Amino acid sequence: MQILKNISLKKYNTFGIDVNASHFCEITSVAALIEVLKSTEHSKKFILGGGSNMLLTQNIDALVLFINLKGIRVIAEDGDDVIVEAKAGENWHDFVLWTLSQGYGGLENLSLIPGNTGTAPIQNIGAYGVELKDVMVSCEAVERSSGTIKIFSNAQCKFGYRDSIFKNEAKEKYVITSVRFKLQSVNHQLNTSYGAIENELSKLGISAPSINDISKAVIRIRQSKLPDPKVLGNSGSFFKNPILSKFDFDRFYANHPEAPFYEVDKNTYKIPAGWLIEQCGFKGKRIGNTGVHEKQALVLVNYGGATGNEVFQLSQRIQEKVKEQFGITIVSEVNIIR
Ligand code: EPU
Repeated sequence: MQILKNISLKKYNTFGIDVNASHFCEITSVAALIEVLKSTEHSKKFILGGGSNMLLTQNIDALVLFINLKGIRVIAEDGDDVIVEAKAGENWHDFVLWTLSQGYGGLENLSLIPGNTGTAPIQNIGAYGVELKDVMVSCEAVERSSGTIKIFSNAQCKFGYRDSIFKNEAKEKYVITSVRFKLQSVNHQLNTSYGAIENELSKLGISAPSINDISKAVIRIRQSKLPDPKVLGNSGSFFKNPILSKFDFDRFYANHPEAPFYEVDKNTYKIPAGWLIEQCGFKGKRIGNTGVHEKQALVLVNYGGATGNEVFQLSQRIQEKVKEQFGITIVSEVNIIR
């Protein structure tokens, strides 16, 4: 195991923020991970996956463990179902494409989400009507303090909207090493209910879509409004969509009947933060090296050379303005490292 010193993390985070790690180690086996977690040589350790949901605001004075565990395998096949396991360091979208190439359905709506498979459970990634919790069976993790392996079932992960146990009571306590999914090898259960998918499929003239058609439609929608991190640094949605009680929603809606919303259940409503931010005049606005994406106001971007603090300050300005104009608090979805 090689420990490198003073390594730039620019290419390891999709925001493209240029900070240094004092020490850096690439992890390619679970045994090596356990060994380094048990070692007392570096007391502070920082776990890095695909770097797609973090904003780095300063140099990391710790041993950065870059989780680069690779491998995809079929665990079991049973009737229509297949259980597939991907190691944590597999790029999420490449893994989705592999499942599609095998004819396995279930992940098509989650095409083109940046990041790695191992970090997908932490924030319960979701898009176009499907969330990771709908397809994940379990994940394997190593406890940081003891180096012991633990299996988390779907229920044990306590998934919520962009939320899981790994953002709450298990925060910074585990390193996820692999994830298992239940997919369908035949009789695919398609999810085309999301309006944007229906529109895209009808534009493509497809009335009986396959899993590949849905993936293509999702890729087209994402490419039309979300910036490619390889071209323009970003971390996807920077904020979560705020959830209002029926009481607060009724008050908000009386003043803003033009606002889009989703009914989560009879007592809770979700308002698209992108709409709130656009109404505050931020969409497409550039401030120094940072800005708000011109096609999706929920996405903050690095035009090149932005510091994490510049992005953070912009996010605070946005939060303050949304609060002032609508009385609604929006919170970041991205993990801000301060
Ligand atoms: N909207 C605006 N202005 C904007 C952006 C959006 O008015 O600048 C309005 C749209 O017109 C639409 C509504 O907001 O009526 C919803 O927009 P969209 O379908 O783009 O979805 P979203 O709620 O903004 C969420 C996820 C995305 C995911 C999409 C599709 C969150 C925080 N974000 O965005 O996830 O791709 O739905 O399912 O829940 C991510 O987490 O990084 C991410 C990209």
